[in-house]
Amino acid sequence: MSTIYDLNAAEQVRSDAFVSGEIPVAIYGLGKMGLPLAAVYADTCSNVIGVDVDPDVVTAVEAGDCPVSGEPGLPALVEQTVEEGALRATTSIDAAANEAMIHVAIVPTLLDDDRNPDLSILQSLLENVGPQLDTGDVVFVESTVPPGSCRDEIFPLLEETSGLERGDFGLAFCPERTSSGQAITDITESYPKVVGGVDQESTEAARIVYEQLNQKGVIPVSNATTAEAVKITEGVFRDVNIALANELAELADPLPVDFKEVADAANTIPFINLHQPGAGVGGHCIPYYPYFLINWIHMEFPLLQTARNVNDSMPDFTVDALHSQFEATNQDIKNARVLVLGVAYRGNVAETRAAPAKPIIERLSKEAREVFVTDPVIDDLSDFEGSEIKLADIHEKDFDAVILVTNHEKFDGINWDSFDPLIIVNGRPSATISSEKHRVYTIGSGLQSNGKL
Ligand SMILES: NC(=O)c1ccc[n+]([C@@H]2O[C@H](COP(=O)([O-])OP(=O)(O)OC[C@H]3O[C@@H](n4cnc5c(N)ncnc54)[C@H](O)[C@@H]3O)[C@@H](O)[C@H]2O)c1
Repeated sequence: MSTIYDLNAAEQVRSDAFVSGEIPVAIYGLGKMGLPLAAVYADTCSNVIGVDVDPDVVTAVEAGDCPVSGEPGLPALVEQTVEEGALRATTSIDAAANEAMIHVAIVPTLLDDDRNPDLSILQSLLENVGPQLDTGDVVFVESTVPPGSCRDEIFPLLEETSGLERGDFGLAFCPERTSSGQAITDITESYPKVVGGVDQESTEAARIVYEQLNQKGVIPVSNATTAEAVKITEGVFRDVNIALANELAELADPLPVDFKEVADAANTIPFINLHQPGAGVGGHCIPYYPYFLINWIHMEFPLLQTARNVNDSMPDFTVDALHSQFEATNQDIKNARVLVLGVAYRGNVAETRAAPAKPIIERLSKEAREVFVTDPVIDDLSDFEGSEIKLADIHEKDFDAVILVTNHEKFDGINWDSFDPLIIVNGRPSATISSEKHRVYTIGSGLQSNGKL
């Protein structure tokens, strides 16, 4: 039987063996990113066993159902690949690891309460996979990890638990570079896959496999640590860039100047890529990954930490902006009924992890008379304080103020003219509030109209 980790075998032979399904694949973690990855693998090689510790996830996938929402194309691909027998699912790590020759780990790697990278889920998974590894197997880690993890932690762990030696099996870091809401296209065609192994054979094995999955091809880098650094660098670039936009957005008040207009003009030079300011940075990537350097590598990262502090301060900046507008109109926020539009961390995405809406609502609940919360893409708002209100019902209620935290497309349908004059803080400059009637303060753009208040 062919293996993928075998430099002596011709590349074409290994590639053909992979796409023909001769080389079984296990994908560990069938979450928001793991299930799309498993479905794309299954569509490519027809021999995938997905593993998840959550029996409900496994039951759903086995039935051809898709437990992950908000990913276009995913339900159809899961249904198709399960029906074809290309994708199966199990809760048994041992059974899947025993069968598979390619092992892909895409389980959560988060931060602990002190913001130290927490690799315990990944480590415990690989402690179970290790004893099942055979000569010629390869492990691909897709979960984001701090640079150096494959070399210093994961490879030694696999060596110890498998009893195999360097050269018997492969390990490559192949970072997930996808965004929620576009996983399938990101995995298959948006941009190339970056791969880096602990040895040349591992990098080659990863290149051969991912060239079959990704139409944009593969960028093989020197080693696993480089691939890990690529992923973290992408995250910290975004965080620092957003922090710069957030800091410069404050120029809107003293100058005054519309930062959006400034950024749009500045960005016409190719090497400038200013991001947009906003009410805060959420999701489980950008706010977390800077700590994969700050709290892992023994050196100072003053810029990264400052960027984190700036971005973490934006929910307060947003509520402060609301206070300023109340003061400017001689009103007291204590008497105000405030509507919060959106709890998702990003527009049109059903995810609330580290969402800036949380601290915004917490503070408003203490400072305003009543807080209402609506989000058309999040079914369960029980994690958030305030009274839930359906988007369809907001026109029936009287509010004194609105904070737009998330730029969901569904908010474009709000009939702003139907409300009595409001104070509005727009926390997403890409969202337009089309009414002259209200007093609108947009982060980065400042006070847009004097309104009627
Ligand atoms: N979501 C994103 O946008 C994104 C983007 C880039 C990278 N990533 C990386 O991918 C990882 C996974 O992200 P996600 O969004 O799919 O997470 P998720 O929380 O949606 O899903 C994780 C899944 O892993 C399962 N799981 C936990 N422990 C397990 C174990 N020991 N064995 C098997 N399954 C187990 C959970 O039950 C869950 O279904 C992240 O931690 C991150 O490193 C995610």
